Amino acid sequence: MKDSILKTFTVATLLCIVCSVLVAMTATGLKPNIEKNALLDKQLNVLRAAGLAAGDEKISAERASELFGQIEQVVIDLASGTTAADADPAKVDLAAQLKDPNGSVALAASDDTAGVKRLPNQMVVYLVRGADGALGKVVLPIYGQGLWSVMYGFLTLEGDLKTVADLSFYDHGETPGLGGEISNPSKMEKWSGKSAFDESGKPAVHFVKGTAAAGDPYQVDGLSGATLTSNGVNRTVSFWLGEHGYGPYLATLK
Ligand SMILES: Cc1cc2nc3c(=O)[nH]c(=O)nc-3n(C[C@H](O)[C@H](O)[C@H](O)COP(=O)(O)O)c2cc1C
Repeated sequence: MKDSILKTFTVATLLCIVCSVLVAMTATGLKPNIEKNALLDKQLNVLRAAGLAAGDEKISAERASELFGQIEQVVIDLASGTTAADADPAKVDLAAQLKDPNGSVALAASDDTAGVKRLPNQMVVYLVRGADGALGKVVLPIYGQGLWSVMYGFLTLEGDLKTVADLSFYDHGETPGLGGEISNPSKMEKWSGKSAFDESGKPAVHFVKGTAAAGDPYQVDGLSGATLTSNGVNRTVSFWLGEHGYGPYLATLK
C-alpha cells in the first residue's frame, strides 16, 4: 500500500477518536466508583473525628454508612449560627460556595486571621448524641492556611462545648515529617482534653513551641521542626472558634 500524507492523517485521526472514546468510556464507567470512594472517605474522616472509628481502622462502605447514620448532620448559616433545617447536608458544597459570590462572603483582611479569604454561607456540622439524646460531641469542619497549603480538618468538641475532644487534618500540602505531622494521630492526640476557651470565653487552646507547661489547660506540645505550620494551626483553630467561625453557632447550641 502506498504511503501518503492523507492516509497518515486519516490513521492518526481515527486513532485519536478511538482513544478519546475509550478514555471517555472509562471515565464514565469509573464515575460511580469515584463518587462512592469520595463519600466513603468523607464519612471515614468524620467518623474518626467523632471518635467512632480509629485512625488506621479499615471499615467497609456498609459499616461506615451505618456508623455515619448515627451522626446528626446539621446545616448551619455560619454568620448567624442558626440552623437551616430545610437544607440538604449532601448538597452543601464548600468549594462550590467559595467560588460563588452569592454562596460566600469575602472577609476583611483584618478579620482573616486564618488566611481563608472567603467564608461560605453554610457549613455542615456533625453532632454525636448519647442514647439519652444528650449531646456527646460536636464535629466542626475547619480550614486555614498552613506554611505551604490550605489545611482541611475537623475540630471536635465534647458535649460541654468547652473541651477539645480531637483535632485532625485530613487534607493539606505540608511537608511529610514536619508540618505533615498535623495528620499524625499520635501527635495530634495531645489536643484531646484541652480547654478550648479561656475564662473570658476567648479561644485559647494552642500549640506551643516545645513542650507544654505541665497542667496548663490550653497549651499543646508543639510539632518539632514545624513551628510555621503549628502557627497556622493555631490561627485556624482560634479563627473557627471565634466570632467569624462557629462562635455564633456554639452560642445557640448552649
Ligand atoms: C524543604 C523544607 C520543608 C519544610 N516544611 C515545613 C513545614 O511543612 N512546616 C513547617 O512548619 N516548617 C517547615 N520547614 C521548616 C521551616 O522553615 C522552619 O524552620 C520551621 O517551621 C521552624 O520550626 P521549629 O522552630 O520547630 O524548628 C521546612 C523547611 C524546609 C527546608
